[in-house]
Amino acid sequence: MKVFVTKAIPEVGINLMKEAGIEVTVHVDDRPLHSEEMIAVCQQYDAMMSVGFNKIDAHFLERCRHLKVISLFAVGYDNVDIPMATQLKIPVGNTPDVLSRATADTAFLLMLAVSRKAFYNYRKILDGKWKGFEPVADLGIELYGKTLGIFGLGKIGFEMAQKCKAAYGMNIIYHNRNRNLHAEEVLEARYVSYDELLAESDVLSLHANLSESNKEIFNKGAFAKMKPTAIFINTARGALHNEADLKEALEKGLIWGAGLDVTNPEPMDPSNPLLMMPNVCILPHIGSATQETRDGMAIMAAKNVIAGLKGEKLPTIVNPEVYEG
Ligand code: GLV
Ligand code: GLV
Repeated sequence: MKVFVTKAIPEVGINLMKEAGIEVTVHVDDRPLHSEEMIAVCQQYDAMMSVGFNKIDAHFLERCRHLKVISLFAVGYDNVDIPMATQLKIPVGNTPDVLSRATADTAFLLMLAVSRKAFYNYRKILDGKWKGFEPVADLGIELYGKTLGIFGLGKIGFEMAQKCKAAYGMNIIYHNRNRNLHAEEVLEARYVSYDELLAESDVLSLHANLSESNKEIFNKGAFAKMKPTAIFINTARGALHNEADLKEALEKGLIWGAGLDVTNPEPMDPSNPLLMMPNVCILPHIGSATQETRDGMAIMAAKNVIAGLKGEKLPTIVNPEVYEG
């Protein structure tokens, strides 16, 4: 049995698969394969580990319908046509939970960094513009007792809310497709409508999966409903917000600041004006990028490959419907 891994991952994952007797090929070239190359390569393998959000659309799936498993080295699966994978009976695995803390840490880091214009102030030093102590220059805003709005209160959103409540006594409101009764009980989180979330949040942090129904839901109209003092944080998916509208909202002062770990497209162009705005902090999609978390993801993704190749149910599966009927 052979697996194709589309980018280098921590050795623990590779070793686990090798110990299970699987032949492992890792694509180590810096240049990602384009879609036709990816199809041609995957046709030679029994399983694929997708690292770095390869587009796994209907065209790919139809041509690679022999795959016994597609194991995503990620929690998000918006890059995969899940209904088509299910129809073709291809199990798709992901890496939930293990990365929740690290990703919430990244959201927390961005919230704090934006609130004190940290990246801009750092650039001030590099640019030789640190003139000494300035009592009224580039002031930030405090987070104590403010309201945190969570869009998509799953595991990651819960971790973020818990940190913000513990650190700053923040009040938690959230909007979800489904109520999260655990969070309501443990964090006294209050369920609100989307419009209430926009209107009441001092910090609005995104933790939802990207889907057709929420693509660019944070657009001009949404930013107009937010507080002019609000901080917008996106560590989920860049396509949840409209970038031009976000930039305009910041320029016009419709919102106060923004912290992004995800952009659309990725990588972001280094000349993007958002990067130079004082109240904006941007990171290059490092949400889960700690040694501990990436090792954990490698182990989970490897276990999904091993189970899939043995014809067993994947331990963490996106489309369990493949096992029905
Ligand atoms: C990262 O963005 C992930 O989905 O794991
Ligand atoms: C939510 O985003 C989760 O991963 O649970």
